[in-house]
Amino acid sequence: MARKVIIDTDPGVDDSMAIFFALASPELDVIGLTSIFGNVRTPLATANALRLLEIADRADIPVAQGAHDPLTRLFEGPVPFVHGEDGQGELFLPAPSAQPLAIPAAQFIIEQLRAQPGEVTLAPIGPLTNIALALRLEPRICEWVDEVVLMGGNALVPGNASPAAEANIRNDPEAADLVFGADWPVTMVGLDVTLRVHMRPADIAEYATHGNAMSDHISRILPHYRRYFEANYDARGIFVHDSSAIAYLLQPDLFQTRRWPMRVTTAGIGRGKTLPTTGGQTLPAWSDTRW
Ligand code: RIB
Ligand code: CA
Repeated sequence: MARKVIIDTDPGVDDSMAIFFALASPELDVIGLTSIFGNVRTPLATANALRLLEIADRADIPVAQGAHDPLTRLFEGPVPFVHGEDGQGELFLPAPSAQPLAIPAAQFIIEQLRAQPGEVTLAPIGPLTNIALALRLEPRICEWVDEVVLMGGNALVPGNASPAAEANIRNDPEAADLVFGADWPVTMVGLDVTLRVHMRPADIAEYATHGNAMSDHISRILPHYRRYFEANYDARGIFVHDSSAIAYLLQPDLFQTRRWPMRVTTAGIGRGKTLPTTGGQTLPAWSDTRW
């Protein structure tokens, strides 16, 4: 039976790749998309989620709109230089025909997990505000979830939104600290992984050769995104962030994992840094540390 997944997303070019990757994988049953600010503001993330489902001919999948701002601050703003003003490589697509659900993302997540305990995996590939809000409203989602597999954070490598922090976590560190601190299984597919998942120009060129609506769309939105990476990193091609979390859902044995307690820095120049306890059993865990 296909694994049920809710993708919480800020589409976003690499989010679009990840959503289509999941939709094209028979092992996964995408039961909903929830939108969040990050690469774009939340209303545009919602519209893009609806647009992507229409392109994929999967308008049957519901979209629930998420929070407009992080838990404790206003959203600092989108990143058009990475994903385009429209979050879709500046294609400026027409408005979607469908509407989001009447309930907010956090409520949708709670209702889905309550109705199908043990069956639904959460795959957040944007800032973690919706997941934290759902946790706050209904802590029992910890018991009901199958697993949380998220793209975000940087354990042992530098950040990409600041020298310290990765973009998704940096956008709402308080939410991320709640999500990592909750009593549920979280797998972080962070920059430690995704900066090693590199798509070269020849790989990118393949998107234009498949002749289906999803791959055609990706081939059209990738040039803007690729220009950002080639101008700012010593790279030819792109890093494949969000799809790496979907790849983990499909084939976890491709990945090496470590089991480390995790906290998130919420203040100072390290704001948004994910801080694992890497020291082994002889060193104090975060819970035993006084500060
Ligand atoms: O740091 C990479 C993450 O930030 C990805 O989720 C990308 O879409 C952006 O949101
Ligand atoms: Ca994303």
